[in-house]
Amino acid sequence: MLFKKIGRYEIDENPNFVARVLVLSLPAAFVFIMLVVLNLLTPYWAIVSYGMIVIFNMIFLLPVSSELQQLKNYINELAKGETSKDFNASVSGLEAREIAEAVNSAHKFWLYKTDALESQVMSDTAVLDTLPDPILMIDRSGNILGANLSAREFLGNNITNNNIENVFSANNFINAANRVLKKESESENLIFYVSRKKDKHAEQKVYAHIKQLPWFSKGRTVAVISLYDLTKAVKIEKMQSDFVANASHELRTPLSIISGFIETLQTTAKDDEQAREYFLKIMADQAEFMSELIENLLSLSRIELTQDEKPSEMINLPEVVEEVIQAMSLKASDKNMRLVTEMPEKLPKINADHQQVRQLIQNLVDNAVKYGLSPSDITISLKEVEKIPASKSFNVADGKAVAVSVNNKGAKVSREDLMRLTERFYRMQEHKDLNIKGTGLGLSIAKQIIIRHHGNLTVNSTNYDGTTFTVYLPCEIK
Ligand SMILES: Nc1ncnc2c1ncn2[C@@H]1O[C@H](COP(=O)(O)OP(=O)(O)OP(=O)(O)O)[C@@H](O)[C@H]1O
Ligand SMILES: [Mg+2]
Repeated sequence: MLFKKIGRYEIDENPNFVARVLVLSLPAAFVFIMLVVLNLLTPYWAIVSYGMIVIFNMIFLLPVSSELQQLKNYINELAKGETSKDFNASVSGLEAREIAEAVNSAHKFWLYKTDALESQVMSDTAVLDTLPDPILMIDRSGNILGANLSAREFLGNNITNNNIENVFSANNFINAANRVLKKESESENLIFYVSRKKDKHAEQKVYAHIKQLPWFSKGRTVAVISLYDLTKAVKIEKMQSDFVANASHELRTPLSIISGFIETLQTTAKDDEQAREYFLKIMADQAEFMSELIENLLSLSRIELTQDEKPSEMINLPEVVEEVIQAMSLKASDKNMRLVTEMPEKLPKINADHQQVRQLIQNLVDNAVKYGLSPSDITISLKEVEKIPASKSFNVADGKAVAVSVNNKGAKVSREDLMRLTERFYRMQEHKDLNIKGTGLGLSIAKQIIIRHHGNLTVNSTNYDGTTFTVYLPCEIK
Protein backbone atom coordinates (compact mmCIF):
# COMPACT_ATOMS: atom_id res chain seq x y z
CA MET A 1 0.00 0.00 0.00
CA LEU A 2 2.97 2.21 0.60
CA PHE A 3 3.65 2.32 -3.15
CA LYS A 4 0.04 2.10 -4.18
CA LYS A 5 0.27 5.33 -6.10
CA ILE A 6 3.41 6.58 -7.70
CA GLY A 7 2.64 9.46 -10.05
CA ARG A 8 -0.32 8.52 -12.30
CA TYR A 9 0.36 4.78 -12.35
CA GLU A 10 -1.50 2.33 -10.17
CA ILE A 11 0.48 -0.65 -8.86
CA ASP A 12 -2.75 -2.68 -8.48
CA GLU A 13 -3.24 -2.55 -12.24
CA ASN A 14 -0.25 -4.80 -12.59
CA PRO A 15 -0.05 -7.55 -9.96
CA ASN A 16 3.33 -8.86 -11.23
CA PHE A 17 4.95 -5.48 -10.93
CA VAL A 18 6.39 -5.86 -7.37
CA ALA A 19 7.76 -9.32 -8.17
CA ARG A 20 9.36 -8.00 -11.33
CA VAL A 21 11.03 -5.08 -9.48
CA LEU A 22 12.37 -7.49 -6.87
CA VAL A 23 13.74 -9.85 -9.50
CA LEU A 24 15.32 -6.93 -11.33
CA SER A 25 16.95 -5.77 -8.08
CA LEU A 26 18.28 -9.25 -7.13
CA PRO A 27 21.79 -8.87 -8.67
CA ALA A 28 22.23 -5.66 -6.65
CA ALA A 29 21.18 -7.52 -3.45
CA PHE A 30 23.77 -10.21 -4.23
CA VAL A 31 26.50 -7.54 -4.68
CA PHE A 32 25.58 -5.86 -1.36
CA ILE A 33 25.63 -9.23 0.51
CA MET A 34 29.12 -9.91 -0.92
CA LEU A 35 30.30 -6.43 0.16
CA VAL A 36 28.97 -7.02 3.71
CA VAL A 37 30.58 -10.53 3.83
CA LEU A 38 33.90 -9.03 2.68
CA ASN A 39 33.50 -6.36 5.37
CA LEU A 40 33.61 -3.58 2.81
CA LEU A 41 30.15 -2.23 3.72
CA THR A 42 28.16 -2.17 6.93
CA PRO A 43 24.79 -4.04 6.86
CA TYR A 44 23.06 -0.69 7.56
CA TRP A 45 24.46 1.00 4.42
CA ALA A 46 23.96 -2.17 2.41
CA ILE A 47 20.23 -2.17 3.27
CA VAL A 48 19.91 1.61 2.62
CA SER A 49 21.70 1.29 -0.76
CA TYR A 50 19.62 -1.76 -1.78
CA GLY A 51 16.43 0.12 -0.80
CA MET A 52 17.48 3.06 -2.97
CA ILE A 53 18.09 0.72 -5.93
CA VAL A 54 14.66 -0.87 -5.48
CA ILE A 55 13.00 2.61 -5.42
CA PHE A 56 15.08 3.66 -8.46
CA ASN A 57 13.95 0.53 -10.39
CA MET A 58 10.37 1.13 -9.41
CA ILE A 59 10.39 4.70 -10.71
CA PHE A 60 11.86 3.70 -14.09
CA LEU A 61 10.17 0.34 -14.62
CA LEU A 62 6.66 1.30 -13.56
CA PRO A 63 5.83 3.60 -16.51
CA VAL A 64 7.21 1.08 -19.05
CA SER A 65 5.21 -1.73 -17.46
CA SER A 66 2.03 0.31 -17.53
CA GLU A 67 2.52 1.20 -21.21
CA LEU A 68 3.09 -2.45 -22.06
CA GLN A 69 -0.09 -3.28 -20.17
CA GLN A 70 -2.03 -0.75 -22.27
CA LEU A 71 -0.54 -2.24 -25.44
CA LYS A 72 -1.51 -5.74 -24.29
CA ASN A 73 -5.10 -4.57 -23.66
CA TYR A 74 -5.21 -2.92 -27.09
CA ILE A 75 -3.93 -6.07 -28.85
CA ASN A 76 -6.55 -8.13 -26.97
CA GLU A 77 -9.29 -5.72 -28.12
CA LEU A 78 -8.01 -5.98 -31.70
CA ALA A 79 -8.02 -9.77 -31.51
CA LYS A 80 -11.63 -9.78 -30.28
CA GLY A 81 -12.59 -7.28 -32.98
CA GLU A 82 -13.69 -4.76 -30.34
CA THR A 83 -11.73 -1.91 -31.90
CA SER A 84 -10.75 -0.89 -35.40
CA LYS A 85 -8.74 2.20 -34.41
CA ASP A 86 -4.95 2.53 -34.21
CA PHE A 87 -3.17 2.41 -30.84
CA ASN A 88 -2.75 6.11 -30.10
CA ALA A 89 -1.95 6.38 -26.33
CA SER A 90 1.30 8.33 -25.92
CA VAL A 91 4.13 6.04 -24.89
CA SER A 92 7.36 7.36 -23.48
CA GLY A 93 9.53 4.22 -23.31
CA LEU A 94 11.61 3.62 -26.45
CA GLU A 95 10.81 -0.11 -26.64
CA ALA A 96 7.11 0.42 -25.95
CA ARG A 97 7.02 3.07 -28.68
CA GLU A 98 8.67 0.75 -31.17
CA ILE A 99 6.26 -2.07 -30.27
CA ALA A 100 3.30 0.34 -30.60
CA GLU A 101 4.50 1.41 -34.05
CA ALA A 102 4.96 -2.23 -35.12
CA VAL A 103 1.47 -3.11 -33.83
CA ASN A 104 -0.04 -0.12 -35.68
CA SER A 105 1.57 -1.01 -39.00
CA ALA A 106 0.51 -4.67 -38.55
CA HIS A 107 -3.02 -3.35 -37.88
CA LYS A 108 -2.96 -1.16 -41.02
CA PHE A 109 -1.80 -4.09 -43.12
CA TRP A 110 -4.50 -6.30 -41.63
CA LEU A 111 -7.17 -3.64 -42.36
CA TYR A 112 -5.94 -3.35 -45.94
CA LYS A 113 -6.04 -7.15 -46.40
CA THR A 114 -9.52 -7.37 -44.84
CA ASP A 115 -10.80 -4.59 -47.15
CA ALA A 116 -9.30 -6.30 -50.20
CA LEU A 117 -10.79 -9.63 -49.12
CA GLU A 118 -14.22 -8.11 -48.44
CA SER A 119 -14.36 -6.38 -51.83
CA GLN A 120 -13.18 -9.60 -53.52
CA VAL A 121 -15.94 -11.56 -51.76
CA MET A 122 -18.50 -8.89 -52.72
CA SER A 123 -17.47 -8.87 -56.36
CA ASP A 124 -17.43 -12.71 -56.43
CA THR A 125 -20.96 -12.72 -54.99
CA ALA A 126 -22.07 -10.10 -57.55
CA VAL A 127 -20.59 -12.19 -60.38
CA LEU A 128 -22.34 -15.33 -59.11
CA ASP A 129 -25.61 -13.39 -58.86
CA THR A 130 -25.41 -12.38 -62.51
CA LEU A 131 -25.32 -16.03 -63.63
CA PRO A 132 -28.68 -17.08 -65.06
CA ASP A 133 -28.57 -20.61 -63.63
CA PRO A 134 -28.86 -21.59 -59.96
CA ILE A 135 -25.54 -22.35 -58.18
CA LEU A 136 -25.18 -23.82 -54.70
CA MET A 137 -22.03 -24.21 -52.58
CA ILE A 138 -22.08 -27.04 -50.07
CA ASP A 139 -19.84 -28.17 -47.21
CA ARG A 140 -18.67 -31.69 -46.32
CA SER A 141 -21.97 -32.58 -44.64
CA GLY A 142 -24.11 -31.31 -47.50
CA ASN A 143 -25.06 -28.03 -45.81
CA ILE A 144 -25.69 -25.18 -48.23
CA LEU A 145 -23.14 -22.47 -47.44
CA GLY A 146 -24.00 -20.18 -50.34
CA ALA A 147 -26.53 -19.78 -53.13
CA ASN A 148 -26.56 -17.25 -55.97
CA LEU A 149 -29.55 -15.04 -56.72
CA SER A 150 -30.92 -17.41 -59.32
CA ALA A 151 -30.75 -20.34 -56.83
CA ARG A 152 -32.51 -18.27 -54.16
CA GLU A 153 -35.23 -17.33 -56.64
CA PHE A 154 -35.57 -20.92 -57.78
CA LEU A 155 -35.50 -22.67 -54.39
CA GLY A 156 -36.51 -19.98 -51.88
CA ASN A 157 -34.70 -17.14 -50.16
CA ASN A 158 -33.77 -19.02 -47.01
CA ILE A 159 -32.10 -22.11 -48.45
CA THR A 160 -28.65 -21.25 -47.08
CA ASN A 161 -27.70 -23.18 -43.92
CA ASN A 162 -30.15 -25.92 -44.88
CA ASN A 163 -28.96 -29.40 -45.73
CA ILE A 164 -29.48 -30.47 -49.34
CA GLU A 165 -31.52 -33.41 -48.00
CA ASN A 166 -34.07 -30.93 -46.64
CA VAL A 167 -34.19 -28.91 -49.85
CA PHE A 168 -34.26 -31.68 -52.46
CA SER A 169 -36.33 -34.82 -52.25
CA ALA A 170 -35.03 -36.71 -55.32
CA ASN A 171 -33.02 -39.72 -54.15
CA ASN A 172 -30.89 -39.92 -57.30
CA PHE A 173 -29.73 -36.35 -56.68
CA ILE A 174 -28.95 -36.88 -52.96
CA ASN A 175 -27.03 -40.11 -53.75
CA ALA A 176 -25.02 -38.39 -56.47
CA ALA A 177 -24.18 -35.48 -54.14
CA ASN A 178 -23.10 -37.91 -51.40
CA ARG A 179 -20.80 -39.74 -53.82
CA VAL A 180 -19.05 -36.43 -54.54
CA LEU A 181 -18.94 -35.46 -50.85
CA LYS A 182 -17.42 -38.84 -49.92
CA LYS A 183 -14.86 -38.36 -52.69
CA GLU A 184 -16.10 -41.51 -54.43
CA SER A 185 -16.41 -39.45 -57.58
CA GLU A 186 -15.09 -36.08 -58.68
CA SER A 187 -18.24 -34.95 -60.40
CA GLU A 188 -21.75 -36.18 -61.18
CA ASN A 189 -24.24 -35.18 -63.87
CA LEU A 190 -27.88 -36.14 -63.70
CA ILE A 191 -31.43 -35.14 -64.51
CA PHE A 192 -33.94 -35.02 -61.67
CA TYR A 193 -37.18 -33.31 -60.63
CA VAL A 194 -37.41 -30.39 -58.19
CA SER A 195 -40.59 -29.17 -56.60
CA ARG A 196 -40.22 -25.43 -56.29
CA LYS A 197 -40.79 -23.64 -52.97
CA LYS A 198 -43.00 -21.04 -54.69
CA ASP A 199 -45.17 -23.58 -56.41
CA LYS A 200 -45.20 -26.83 -54.47
CA HIS A 201 -47.39 -28.69 -56.93
CA ALA A 202 -45.35 -28.03 -60.05
CA GLU A 203 -42.31 -30.25 -60.53
CA GLN A 204 -39.51 -28.98 -62.70
CA LYS A 205 -37.14 -31.05 -64.75
CA VAL A 206 -33.62 -30.03 -63.84
CA TYR A 207 -30.16 -30.98 -65.07
CA ALA A 208 -27.56 -30.96 -62.26
CA HIS A 209 -23.79 -30.86 -62.38
CA ILE A 210 -22.17 -31.59 -59.01
CA LYS A 211 -18.45 -30.91 -58.88
CA GLN A 212 -15.93 -31.43 -56.09
CA LEU A 213 -13.62 -28.47 -55.45
CA PRO A 214 -9.87 -29.10 -55.57
CA TRP A 215 -9.40 -28.64 -51.80
CA PHE A 216 -11.21 -30.27 -48.92
CA SER A 217 -11.44 -28.55 -45.54
CA LYS A 218 -13.89 -28.63 -42.64
CA GLY A 219 -16.67 -26.01 -42.66
CA ARG A 220 -15.75 -24.78 -46.14
CA THR A 221 -17.29 -25.19 -49.56
CA VAL A 222 -16.19 -28.57 -50.82
CA ALA A 223 -18.52 -28.96 -53.78
CA VAL A 224 -20.49 -26.77 -56.15
CA ILE A 225 -23.87 -27.72 -57.59
CA SER A 226 -25.00 -26.00 -60.76
CA LEU A 227 -28.56 -26.54 -61.89
CA TYR A 228 -30.07 -26.00 -65.30
CA ASP A 229 -33.83 -25.73 -65.56
CA LEU A 230 -34.91 -27.96 -68.42
CA THR A 231 -38.61 -27.07 -68.18
CA LYS A 232 -38.24 -24.27 -70.71
CA ALA A 233 -36.25 -26.47 -73.10
CA VAL A 234 -38.86 -29.25 -72.74
CA LYS A 235 -41.62 -26.71 -73.44
CA ILE A 236 -39.82 -25.39 -76.53
CA GLU A 237 -39.25 -28.96 -77.73
CA LYS A 238 -42.96 -29.70 -77.26
CA MET A 239 -43.93 -26.48 -79.06
CA GLN A 240 -41.68 -27.40 -81.96
CA SER A 241 -43.07 -30.91 -82.27
CA ASP A 242 -46.66 -29.57 -81.91
CA PHE A 243 -45.86 -27.04 -84.62
CA VAL A 244 -44.59 -29.69 -87.00
CA ALA A 245 -47.62 -31.89 -86.20
CA ASN A 246 -50.04 -28.97 -86.75
CA ALA A 247 -48.33 -27.83 -89.95
CA SER A 248 -48.40 -31.33 -91.44
CA HIS A 249 -52.02 -31.76 -90.39
CA GLU A 250 -53.00 -28.42 -91.98
CA LEU A 251 -51.19 -29.40 -95.21
CA ARG A 252 -52.57 -32.92 -95.25
CA THR A 253 -56.23 -31.75 -95.19
CA PRO A 254 -56.21 -29.82 -98.52
CA LEU A 255 -53.86 -32.39 -100.02
CA SER A 256 -56.29 -35.22 -99.24
CA ILE A 257 -59.18 -33.14 -100.64
CA ILE A 258 -57.22 -32.59 -103.88
CA SER A 259 -56.24 -36.29 -104.16
CA GLY A 260 -59.86 -37.29 -103.46
CA PHE A 261 -61.14 -35.11 -106.31
CA ILE A 262 -58.42 -36.30 -108.67
CA GLU A 263 -59.56 -39.85 -108.00
CA THR A 264 -63.22 -38.89 -108.54
CA LEU A 265 -62.36 -37.12 -111.80
CA GLN A 266 -60.47 -40.17 -112.94
CA THR A 267 -63.34 -42.53 -112.11
CA THR A 268 -66.97 -41.67 -111.41
CA ALA A 269 -66.96 -38.09 -112.70
CA LYS A 270 -64.77 -38.90 -115.66
CA ASP A 271 -67.27 -37.75 -118.27
CA ASP A 272 -69.25 -35.29 -116.17
CA GLU A 273 -68.39 -31.84 -117.58
CA GLN A 274 -70.31 -29.93 -114.92
CA ALA A 275 -68.79 -31.85 -111.99
CA ARG A 276 -65.33 -31.43 -113.45
CA GLU A 277 -65.65 -27.62 -113.45
CA TYR A 278 -66.94 -27.66 -109.90
CA PHE A 279 -64.20 -30.02 -108.63
CA LEU A 280 -61.41 -28.13 -110.40
CA LYS A 281 -62.57 -24.91 -108.72
CA ILE A 282 -62.38 -26.57 -105.27
CA MET A 283 -59.00 -28.08 -106.12
CA ALA A 284 -57.67 -24.66 -107.17
CA ASP A 285 -58.93 -23.14 -103.88
CA GLN A 286 -57.26 -25.90 -101.86
CA ALA A 287 -54.01 -25.52 -103.80
CA GLU A 288 -54.11 -21.77 -103.15
CA PHE A 289 -54.71 -22.40 -99.45
CA MET A 290 -51.74 -24.79 -99.40
CA SER A 291 -49.47 -22.23 -100.98
CA GLU A 292 -50.72 -19.56 -98.51
CA LEU A 293 -49.97 -21.93 -95.66
CA ILE A 294 -46.49 -22.68 -96.97
CA GLU A 295 -45.88 -18.97 -97.54
CA ASN A 296 -46.95 -18.20 -93.95
CA LEU A 297 -44.79 -21.02 -92.52
CA LEU A 298 -41.78 -19.74 -94.46
CA SER A 299 -42.59 -16.21 -93.36
CA LEU A 300 -42.66 -17.29 -89.69
CA SER A 301 -39.29 -18.99 -89.91
CA ARG A 302 -37.79 -16.03 -91.81
CA ILE A 303 -38.98 -13.66 -89.05
CA GLU A 304 -37.64 -15.99 -86.38
CA LEU A 305 -34.25 -15.87 -88.08
CA THR A 306 -34.16 -12.08 -87.77
CA GLN A 307 -35.37 -12.15 -84.16
CA ASP A 308 -32.07 -10.95 -82.62
CA GLU A 309 -31.29 -8.44 -85.37
CA LYS A 310 -31.90 -4.78 -84.68
CA PRO A 311 -33.85 -3.22 -87.59
CA SER A 312 -31.68 -0.75 -89.50
CA GLU A 313 -34.28 1.50 -91.17
CA MET A 314 -36.15 4.57 -89.94
CA ILE A 315 -39.63 4.31 -91.42
CA ASN A 316 -42.61 6.57 -91.83
CA LEU A 317 -45.71 4.70 -90.56
CA PRO A 318 -48.37 6.76 -92.48
CA GLU A 319 -46.61 5.72 -95.70
CA VAL A 320 -46.74 2.05 -94.69
CA VAL A 321 -50.45 2.37 -93.82
CA GLU A 322 -51.05 3.94 -97.25
CA GLU A 323 -49.36 0.96 -98.96
CA VAL A 324 -51.55 -1.47 -96.97
CA ILE A 325 -54.71 0.48 -97.85
CA GLN A 326 -53.85 0.33 -101.54
CA ALA A 327 -53.31 -3.43 -101.32
CA MET A 328 -56.46 -4.11 -99.31
CA SER A 329 -59.04 -1.64 -100.62
CA LEU A 330 -60.34 -3.95 -103.35
CA LYS A 331 -60.84 -6.82 -100.90
CA ALA A 332 -62.57 -4.40 -98.49
CA SER A 333 -64.90 -2.93 -101.13
CA ASP A 334 -65.85 -6.47 -102.23
CA LYS A 335 -67.27 -6.79 -98.71
CA ASN A 336 -68.84 -3.34 -98.73
CA MET A 337 -66.31 -2.04 -96.27
CA ARG A 338 -64.40 1.23 -96.25
CA LEU A 339 -60.84 1.67 -94.97
CA VAL A 340 -60.68 4.92 -93.00
CA THR A 341 -57.58 6.48 -91.43
CA GLU A 342 -57.20 8.77 -88.43
CA MET A 343 -53.75 10.21 -87.84
CA PRO A 344 -52.13 13.41 -86.55
CA GLU A 345 -50.30 15.74 -88.94
CA LYS A 346 -46.93 14.94 -87.51
CA LEU A 347 -45.65 11.61 -86.34
CA PRO A 348 -42.07 10.58 -85.48
CA LYS A 349 -40.36 8.03 -87.70
CA ILE A 350 -39.76 4.65 -86.14
CA ASN A 351 -36.78 2.32 -86.14
CA ALA A 352 -38.28 -0.70 -87.89
CA ASP A 353 -38.12 -3.20 -90.74
CA HIS A 354 -40.34 -1.73 -93.48
CA GLN A 355 -41.34 -5.02 -95.08
CA GLN A 356 -42.14 -6.71 -91.73
CA VAL A 357 -44.19 -3.76 -90.43
CA ARG A 358 -46.20 -3.70 -93.67
CA GLN A 359 -46.86 -7.43 -93.29
CA LEU A 360 -47.90 -6.89 -89.66
CA ILE A 361 -50.41 -4.09 -90.44
CA GLN A 362 -51.66 -5.95 -93.51
CA ASN A 363 -52.40 -9.06 -91.42
CA LEU A 364 -54.47 -6.95 -88.99
CA VAL A 365 -56.38 -5.17 -91.78
CA ASP A 366 -56.90 -8.51 -93.56
CA ASN A 367 -58.47 -9.91 -90.38
CA ALA A 368 -60.66 -6.82 -89.96
CA VAL A 369 -61.94 -7.29 -93.52
CA LYS A 370 -62.46 -11.04 -93.06
CA TYR A 371 -64.05 -11.04 -89.62
CA GLY A 372 -65.56 -7.55 -89.42
CA LEU A 373 -69.21 -6.61 -89.96
CA SER A 374 -70.22 -6.00 -93.53
CA PRO A 375 -71.05 -3.27 -94.44
CA SER A 376 -69.06 -1.11 -91.98
CA ASP A 377 -65.93 1.00 -91.72
CA ILE A 378 -62.53 -0.26 -90.70
CA THR A 379 -60.59 2.47 -88.92
CA ILE A 380 -56.80 2.51 -88.95
CA SER A 381 -55.54 5.11 -86.49
CA LEU A 382 -52.03 6.22 -85.63
CA LYS A 383 -50.87 8.18 -82.61
CA GLU A 384 -47.70 8.94 -80.69
CA VAL A 385 -47.49 7.55 -77.13
CA GLU A 386 -45.02 8.23 -74.31
CA LYS A 387 -44.60 4.62 -73.28
CA ILE A 388 -45.34 1.08 -74.47
CA PRO A 389 -47.49 -0.94 -72.03
CA ALA A 390 -45.42 -3.65 -70.31
CA SER A 391 -45.68 -7.28 -71.36
CA LYS A 392 -45.47 -10.32 -69.05
CA SER A 393 -43.87 -12.55 -71.63
CA PHE A 394 -41.38 -10.42 -73.57
CA ASN A 395 -39.27 -7.28 -73.24
CA VAL A 396 -40.67 -4.01 -74.51
CA ALA A 397 -38.52 -0.99 -75.40
CA ASP A 398 -38.45 2.10 -73.19
CA GLY A 399 -39.41 5.54 -74.40
CA LYS A 400 -41.71 7.00 -77.02
CA ALA A 401 -43.61 4.84 -79.50
CA VAL A 402 -46.22 4.99 -82.21
CA ALA A 403 -49.47 3.08 -81.68
CA VAL A 404 -51.29 1.65 -84.73
CA SER A 405 -54.89 0.61 -84.05
CA VAL A 406 -57.07 -1.37 -86.42
CA ASN A 407 -60.74 -1.40 -85.48
CA ASN A 408 -63.55 -3.33 -87.09
CA LYS A 409 -67.19 -3.51 -86.12
CA GLY A 410 -68.72 -6.86 -85.29
CA ALA A 411 -69.62 -9.21 -82.47
CA LYS A 412 -67.52 -9.20 -79.33
CA VAL A 413 -64.70 -11.76 -79.19
CA SER A 414 -64.84 -13.77 -75.94
CA ARG A 415 -62.08 -13.43 -73.33
CA GLU A 416 -61.02 -17.08 -73.79
CA ASP A 417 -60.62 -16.55 -77.54
CA LEU A 418 -58.79 -13.23 -77.09
CA MET A 419 -56.19 -14.98 -74.91
CA ARG A 420 -55.45 -17.52 -77.65
CA LEU A 421 -55.64 -15.49 -80.86
CA THR A 422 -51.86 -15.23 -81.34
CA GLU A 423 -51.30 -18.99 -80.86
CA ARG A 424 -50.11 -20.70 -84.01
CA PHE A 425 -52.97 -22.29 -85.98
CA TYR A 426 -55.59 -21.07 -83.49
CA ARG A 427 -58.84 -20.09 -85.20
CA MET A 428 -62.16 -19.24 -83.55
CA GLN A 429 -64.74 -22.01 -83.95
CA GLU A 430 -67.46 -19.67 -85.26
CA HIS A 431 -65.18 -18.53 -88.12
CA LYS A 432 -64.32 -22.13 -89.02
CA ASP A 433 -68.05 -22.91 -88.98
CA LEU A 434 -68.74 -19.94 -91.29
CA ASN A 435 -66.13 -21.43 -93.63
CA ILE A 436 -64.02 -18.27 -93.61
CA LYS A 437 -60.65 -19.30 -95.01
CA GLY A 438 -57.50 -18.77 -92.96
CA THR A 439 -54.33 -20.55 -91.94
CA GLY A 440 -54.42 -19.38 -88.30
CA LEU A 441 -50.90 -18.00 -88.65
CA GLY A 442 -51.51 -14.29 -89.45
CA LEU A 443 -51.53 -13.11 -85.82
CA SER A 444 -48.61 -15.33 -84.76
CA ILE A 445 -46.59 -13.77 -87.57
CA ALA A 446 -47.72 -10.34 -86.29
CA LYS A 447 -46.64 -11.27 -82.75
CA GLN A 448 -43.17 -12.41 -83.86
CA ILE A 449 -42.67 -9.14 -85.75
CA ILE A 450 -43.76 -7.17 -82.67
CA ILE A 451 -41.37 -9.13 -80.41
CA ARG A 452 -38.50 -8.47 -82.81
CA HIS A 453 -39.26 -4.74 -82.62
CA HIS A 454 -39.60 -4.80 -78.79
CA GLY A 455 -43.13 -3.50 -79.13
CA ASN A 456 -46.43 -4.81 -77.76
CA LEU A 457 -49.92 -5.80 -78.87
CA THR A 458 -53.22 -5.24 -77.07
CA VAL A 459 -56.70 -6.37 -78.12
CA ASN A 460 -60.03 -4.95 -76.96
CA SER A 461 -63.38 -6.26 -77.96
CA THR A 462 -66.87 -5.09 -77.09
CA ASN A 463 -70.25 -5.52 -78.74
CA TYR A 464 -70.59 -1.77 -79.13
CA ASP A 465 -67.09 -0.81 -80.42
CA GLY A 466 -66.20 -4.05 -82.16
CA THR A 467 -62.63 -5.38 -82.04
CA THR A 468 -59.51 -3.22 -81.88
CA PHE A 469 -55.98 -4.54 -82.27
CA THR A 470 -53.37 -1.98 -81.16
CA VAL A 471 -49.71 -2.45 -82.01
CA TYR A 472 -47.08 -0.35 -80.21
CA LEU A 473 -43.79 0.11 -82.05
CA PRO A 474 -40.94 2.00 -80.37
CA CYS A 475 -39.40 5.05 -82.02
CA GLU A 476 -35.97 3.85 -81.02
CA ILE A 477 -34.67 0.33 -80.41
CA LYS A 478 -31.50 0.16 -78.31
N1 LIG B 1 -60.56 -8.66 -86.14
C1 LIG B 1 -60.96 -9.85 -85.75
N2 LIG B 1 -62.23 -10.01 -85.30
C2 LIG B 1 -62.64 -11.20 -84.85
N3 LIG B 1 -61.87 -12.31 -84.83
C3 LIG B 1 -60.61 -12.21 -85.26
C4 LIG B 1 -60.09 -10.98 -85.73
N4 LIG B 1 -58.81 -11.18 -86.07
C5 LIG B 1 -58.55 -12.48 -85.85
N5 LIG B 1 -59.63 -13.11 -85.39
C6 LIG B 1 -59.70 -14.53 -85.00
O1 LIG B 1 -58.39 -14.95 -84.72
C7 LIG B 1 -58.05 -16.10 -85.51
C8 LIG B 1 -56.58 -16.07 -85.82
O2 LIG B 1 -56.27 -15.02 -86.70
P1 LIG B 1 -55.05 -15.16 -87.66
O3 LIG B 1 -54.93 -13.90 -88.42
O4 LIG B 1 -53.90 -15.61 -86.87
O5 LIG B 1 -55.40 -16.34 -88.60
P2 LIG B 1 -56.44 -16.41 -89.81
O6 LIG B 1 -56.96 -15.05 -90.11
O7 LIG B 1 -57.42 -17.44 -89.45
O8 LIG B 1 -55.53 -16.93 -90.97
P3 LIG B 1 -54.49 -16.14 -91.89
O9 LIG B 1 -54.37 -14.77 -91.30
O10 LIG B 1 -53.27 -16.90 -91.78
O11 LIG B 1 -55.10 -16.19 -93.23
C9 LIG B 1 -58.92 -15.96 -86.72
O12 LIG B 1 -59.13 -17.22 -87.32
C10 LIG B 1 -60.21 -15.40 -86.12
O13 LIG B 1 -60.95 -16.45 -85.56
MG1 LIG C 1 -55.54 -13.49 -90.44
